[in-house]
Amino acid sequence: MRINRRTLLSGGALFSLAGLGTWQDLEASYRLSTGTPVPATPTGQAEPVKDGYELWLRYRPVTDQNLRDQYRAATQSLVSFAGKPIGESIAAELDRACEGMVGQRPVKTSSSGSGGAILVGTPQSSDMIRNAVDSARLASLGDEAFALKSTTSAIVISANTDRGLLYGMFAFIRQMQLHLPIDQLDLIDTPGAILRMVDHWDNLDRTVERGYAGLSIFQFADLTAPNPRYEDYARLLASVGINSAVINNVNADPAFLQSSMMPGYAKLAAVLRNWGIRLFLSANFAAPIDLTANDAHPIGTADPLDKGVEQWWASKVDEIYQSVPDFGGFLVKANSEGEPGPLTYNRTHAQGANMLAKSLEKHGGLVIWRTFTHHGFTGWSEDEFKTFQPLDGTFAPNVMLQTKNGPIDFQVIEPVNPLFGAMPRTNQMIELQITQEYTGHATHLCYLPVYWAELLGFTTHLDAENPTVADIVTDPAGQGTPTGFAGVINFGDDRNWTGSYLAAANMHGFARLAWNPLRSVQEIATEWTALTFGPHQQITSLVVPILLASWDTYRRYASSLGSGYLVRPLGPHFMPDPESTQGLTHHTDSHGSGYDRTVATGSGFTRFYSDYWFDRYEHLKTCPEDLLMFMHIVPWDHKLSNGKTAIQQVYDEPFAGSSDVQAIQGAWRTLEKLIDHDRFSAISRQFGRQLLQSQIWRDVLVSYYFTVSRIVSATNPWIQLDAPETPPLLLGGVENDMVLQLTNATAKSESLKVAIDGSMDGWTSTTVKKALKSAETGRSPIKLTPPLEPSIGAVRFSCDPSSLTQIGFATQLMTVTPDASHCVFAIDIGAKPKDVVKSYASLTSDDLWQDGSTVGWVDKAPRDVWSGAAWGPLLDHFASDSAARTLRLSIPAGHQRAWMLVGGEGAGTQPITAKLGKTILVDTGYLEEGEFQWAPFALDGGKNGATLDLTFEGRDGRNWRLGALVVLKPGA
Ligand code: GCU
Repeated sequence: MRINRRTLLSGGALFSLAGLGTWQDLEASYRLSTGTPVPATPTGQAEPVKDGYELWLRYRPVTDQNLRDQYRAATQSLVSFAGKPIGESIAAELDRACEGMVGQRPVKTSSSGSGGAILVGTPQSSDMIRNAVDSARLASLGDEAFALKSTTSAIVISANTDRGLLYGMFAFIRQMQLHLPIDQLDLIDTPGAILRMVDHWDNLDRTVERGYAGLSIFQFADLTAPNPRYEDYARLLASVGINSAVINNVNADPAFLQSSMMPGYAKLAAVLRNWGIRLFLSANFAAPIDLTANDAHPIGTADPLDKGVEQWWASKVDEIYQSVPDFGGFLVKANSEGEPGPLTYNRTHAQGANMLAKSLEKHGGLVIWRTFTHHGFTGWSEDEFKTFQPLDGTFAPNVMLQTKNGPIDFQVIEPVNPLFGAMPRTNQMIELQITQEYTGHATHLCYLPVYWAELLGFTTHLDAENPTVADIVTDPAGQGTPTGFAGVINFGDDRNWTGSYLAAANMHGFARLAWNPLRSVQEIATEWTALTFGPHQQITSLVVPILLASWDTYRRYASSLGSGYLVRPLGPHFMPDPESTQGLTHHTDSHGSGYDRTVATGSGFTRFYSDYWFDRYEHLKTCPEDLLMFMHIVPWDHKLSNGKTAIQQVYDEPFAGSSDVQAIQGAWRTLEKLIDHDRFSAISRQFGRQLLQSQIWRDVLVSYYFTVSRIVSATNPWIQLDAPETPPLLLGGVENDMVLQLTNATAKSESLKVAIDGSMDGWTSTTVKKALKSAETGRSPIKLTPPLEPSIGAVRFSCDPSSLTQIGFATQLMTVTPDASHCVFAIDIGAKPKDVVKSYASLTSDDLWQDGSTVGWVDKAPRDVWSGAAWGPLLDHFASDSAARTLRLSIPAGHQRAWMLVGGEGAGTQPITAKLGKTILVDTGYLEEGEFQWAPFALDGGKNGATLDLTFEGRDGRNWRLGALVVLKPGA
């Protein structure tokens, strides 16, 4: 079987909006197709308030009476031959589903009687099952295949193993969730990839690397403690066919292999086993050194050819299998980004992997060895291929190489990693990133299955068979070759699992593609939408096109023509910062932009592909346009197939992408009556944040490209205001001196008048007058006075003449904090004195309360943290802890207004309360990822002043964080 999907990115639009034209048309077309206006009472009423916890396993009552009668009649009883423990899961899930959807639990019996039974078992378990299904065909499809068949007296769910039965059961339930008929079922299904795995990047302290949904769901401190969430997690994954989970970060703490962890793994693995999922661990290659450091005879090396090392791993593996008899094996990140590995001892990756594989082999365990290795930006795209390709055929049979989809690092768009197909004698897995590290975190909707499906359908042209990537990472011939999909999961302990409700679609889509990479993405998106919001035509006909267009929308404002890595390397990878990678990942100047990866004049990367792709990638004229700047430095005047020049394209695409977000936002609003209030409004807020962020991307990128090229846009010239060079922190209540950099990116001279926009309440500014010739840049001082009260967000400036398109005038993010002269306390928290905002006091973990202090932590201080994220002053440093901590303040007499600065990226941005004794002064509520907030509260110093103890805490033991505290003088 060969997949014949359109080859990747072979020019032209990747995705058209399901025939709907532009987003601007979408709402209108939706109204036309459903009758104007959008019905207030659709077939399905907006359902009661939901918190999204169930994700796609929502079992809501079926309201259509006929359907409900049909489902009730067909689910009277359950005859199950499935063994323990999976058989119990099957019965419990059918109870949950039938009770929720039709109000009855199937009666468990041993014979199907006169009808209305669900019959679950292998063909060998009953004559009726054997007669109903094509058991020979089923047998040929392997362990996880299943058959569903409606007969006059029963719904037959059959498979060769309990795991197959589990998947069959979920497929049957899905029919009812989707309100589809169940009286004509006749299907056989089998998964494409053998390993369908999720990789958690969860750390021991429960932080999640690149996680945007709170802390890890795993309580690593005590995994033996009962936690109902583990079972729901396993159900959710099993329902979409996931069969393996790596529960800890690839940047693995050796402590994950400590003996004390084993009882916890035993408990967790038992829960996963009930749902057909095997537990895997990420292993630190230097664990033998670390974990024997305090022994009488420390091992002191991790050399894979050292007998002591080999012995240590063998006994560690035996120990794990004693607790987890079906342990899946190790995932290893070796000699990559500072992680230890065999190269340190002059051994190859194969020698490292094979040593581990030997210890796992007798237990049926696997080593999953990552190929993600690089030595920084120079040669990044070549390193991996050069390191691994020559090792083809040298890995043990129970080693699988796990390779990221592209040669760099989960960028918005990259070519297929050339290692796929280049190692025919090696077991290969593809690694996809479900969590949206470079694709907008939980803020931007970016439905990745659209992109993944294109990658999977990429034809390698490597041999006469011309395998696609999907062929290489699945087992189409059913030979049991270890193959697989790994997805870096986006789950955290947020109630809705994925932070953003819509991001759950990526997890679902990943799993459905891993099950069947040939399945149409439109179908997958429709399934998710219907399972998540209810199977209503009005909802799916709007949400599905929104999902399907979203990756391309993001690509257009963040990675036009395949321009890559335009974020600050050592940061959250969220905001655009093309200057930070200038010369590293792109060479942008007055002539053009991109990276030269050709053989003729560049890094030689294009030669790693088959001749077919080499011939295309090597030349500017034949290279797919979506990857043009990935492969070439593209001259600005290079003509594209749409007739535009390259510079015009990188100008126009961010405008188009960002205005699509606006249209999506408008289209979403039409669903207000159809979707429960909580989810509707959270998603509306998300689109609001995405709109601003997309405008920031647009403004930063087009300004940057204009600044370096000085080529005026032929279609939409603009005036641009560039972000001030110093991070934008303003002091409230006083005049701030700022320098505005203005550029006239139009074709004629302009006299500009710039001031703070009238819509900025309480702000005043001087007016800057600047006459600029075409393509000229000038800098002018401006005095800006924000209100005294702190604030954070985009600051708008007005520009006269207003008829000109303005770039950067509404997207300058600034933090305002009161000038210290108006404050009783103006404290920059968690920051060392040298990093502190000028005129502010610093408060670190050293500042414990003492006699004579006016402020200090009582008993124990929280940790000082530097996020490394470059959000800006006040925001990057903070105090954080999972325990409640108390700050003592001595305040003067009278009422005082106070604010605390909370939020940011990663775990610890969650609801935070400040209490005075038992009284809650402020509760921030849930904060979305990347969101900061000045949370206001009031303090009372009474007649004589007071010493107050403010206690800060997170909810449910989660981390809290605090970046600053300001208390205004009484009356200020
Ligand atoms: C990226 C990511 C890291 C991660 C690494 C990996 O570089 O930013 O957080 O550890 O990929 O996949 O190993």
